[in-house]
Amino acid sequence: MGIAVFASGNGSNFQSLIDCSNKENWEVPISLLICDRPNAKAIERAQAAKVPYRCINPHDFADKVRYEQEIVNTLEEYQIKWIVLAGYMRIIGETILNPFIGKIVNIHPSLLPAFPGKHAIEEAFTYPVKITGVTIHFIDEGIDTGPIIAQEAVSVDPDDTLASLEDKIHRVEHRLYPKIVRSWVEGKL
Ligand code: GRF
Repeated sequence: MGIAVFASGNGSNFQSLIDCSNKENWEVPISLLICDRPNAKAIERAQAAKVPYRCINPHDFADKVRYEQEIVNTLEEYQIKWIVLAGYMRIIGETILNPFIGKIVNIHPSLLPAFPGKHAIEEAFTYPVKITGVTIHFIDEGIDTGPIIAQEAVSVDPDDTLASLEDKIHRVEHRLYPKIVRSWVEGKL
């Protein structure tokens, strides 16, 4: 009964989850990476950390239901109980959601419900707000709408650039996500 992380790109949050689970000896293992892009850096990270991974490319399937069914079959094969989205750039459809309701969490780089969607950090920076942050939430049918589990604020300072703000947010993500995921899977939320 393990955790699957879903990632599409860099995978720095995946890395921080693996590093913490190894360092802290989590009860529940990170048993699988699911990646939808063959060239994602997240795959290299899985190889380096010796975490099993499956690259499942949606372009190889006739439709989203069949793509997601392949993911569900893979999750069953690896006896996955918890799904942790970490930069997975697709909307979870009902084929995955129905069998895993309440068992999927996501991390988003803003204080939801402000700045949902793919460009949250840039939109907060150009708005400009003085405080943004990080949200960890359950997944439901909507986009960035599920019940909120944890949030942490990050200040946007006068001398911040977009790059420095991104850096501050990622540092909070890398600390907060492993802590929350561990509590969640160990039943201590
Ligand atoms: C993170 O900022 C996360 O909040 C968002 O996508 C980004 C993924 O970054 N959902 P990485 O691939 O973990 O480096």
